[in-house]
Amino acid sequence: MTQKATITPIKSLHGRIIPPGDKSISHRALMLGALAQGKTVIRGLLRGEDCLCTLKALQAMGIAIEDQGDEVIVHGGGLWGLKEPEDVLDMGNSGTSTRLLTGILACQSFFSVLTGDSSLRRRPMNRVIEPLRLMGAQIWGRGGGNYAPLAINGKVELQPIQFKLKQSSAQVKSALLLAGLYAGGVTQVLEPHPSRDHTERMLKAMGANIYREDSTVILEGQPTLQGLEIDVPGDFSSAAFFIAAALIVPDAELTIERVGLNPTRIGFLEAVQQMGGQIEIVREYRVGEEPVGDLWVKSSHLKGINIEGEMVPRMIDEFPIFAVLAAVAEGETVIRQAAELRVKESDRIGRLAAELRKAGVKVEEYEDGMVISGGTHFKGANFTSHGDHRLAMSMAIGALIAKKDSHIEDVACVQTSFPGFFDLLAGLTGQEIPVT
Ligand code: S3P
Repeated sequence: MTQKATITPIKSLHGRIIPPGDKSISHRALMLGALAQGKTVIRGLLRGEDCLCTLKALQAMGIAIEDQGDEVIVHGGGLWGLKEPEDVLDMGNSGTSTRLLTGILACQSFFSVLTGDSSLRRRPMNRVIEPLRLMGAQIWGRGGGNYAPLAINGKVELQPIQFKLKQSSAQVKSALLLAGLYAGGVTQVLEPHPSRDHTERMLKAMGANIYREDSTVILEGQPTLQGLEIDVPGDFSSAAFFIAAALIVPDAELTIERVGLNPTRIGFLEAVQQMGGQIEIVREYRVGEEPVGDLWVKSSHLKGINIEGEMVPRMIDEFPIFAVLAAVAEGETVIRQAAELRVKESDRIGRLAAELRKAGVKVEEYEDGMVISGGTHFKGANFTSHGDHRLAMSMAIGALIAKKDSHIEDVACVQTSFPGFFDLLAGLTGQEIPVT
């Protein structure tokens, strides 16, 4: 089950790729499709394990979902169309499924239980449970309510809330907006810095009255949502691994097509440009509610930079691969105000620092970030993912420029967000990547 990949270093990388569908948008298309009236047709849905957890949970609550290959059709039942699941809902590794569904399940007329794998059961859930309780929700969990399994005694008349997030989080914001759909009145969520806004865009397209005033998202409760046709753009977070490969492999030029370029997601692109990376948006267009484009990237000499503040939520999933770039860049890179990284699929400060050190990188750890000394000649090593998909893929990309072969242990987890990652990398580099 865990699987090990062997990566042989390469000198050149050329070609074009299309990344798989966006994970965040895929989750939302399934969930909002289920809560809308009529059909939602989804093209380009990400079939990663995380999104399949959302899909199966909705099916377990009576939603008919047809898989027609290119298209997935969700037959929505309106806000009140879900039925009590007969069993515990398994969220696997997926924090997005757990937190967003908690917002929906808190408002149903039935009881439900959410659980997941050992990583998910370590992730803090207080951040959604506390504000949902203020709305009147009844939710219990381990550790005083902070950890899954979560038992949810749905209540149909939750109160709207005006809530100020301490930490920007699209998962928490979205859970409160989803609960706000059921509340009579106006729900307001204020975030310190903008986090991804896919929920807001999709709700608006489905007919909800939702808008932003400065840092506050405002939603009028109890709308009738209409099913949509949704084309899912490529996932910028998946594209980031290939952007990084093209920047650090000595002779490289890569075009990445049809990538989602939502401004709340492309902090990594801006950071790379600031480091001196040669990356350009060569074509920009819209697919439904989302900006999309083609990117052109070329081998570059990178320089260290500082990251903090509003950049952190805009590149929250890209820190593992960003750290690989920082390791080879000239000079120091400082990442601060990013304590959130400690509670992702793994501790993405502690575990990441440990893996980077195996490659010979000098890293200083802080509670809320790290300082990476650049100029490293990446060493081949035996890396492990710690069960974290983004660590597995980041170390695989770093290994492309090592002096000898590297092994990455525990790579089955890439299935959560990027099935086909190693095949795509193998196809592009012309090397075989044994995954055994
Ligand atoms: C996500 C939000 C982010 C991100 C996660 C996906 C989403 O989490 O890290 O991979 O789809 O809403 P937080 O909201 O906890 O920062």
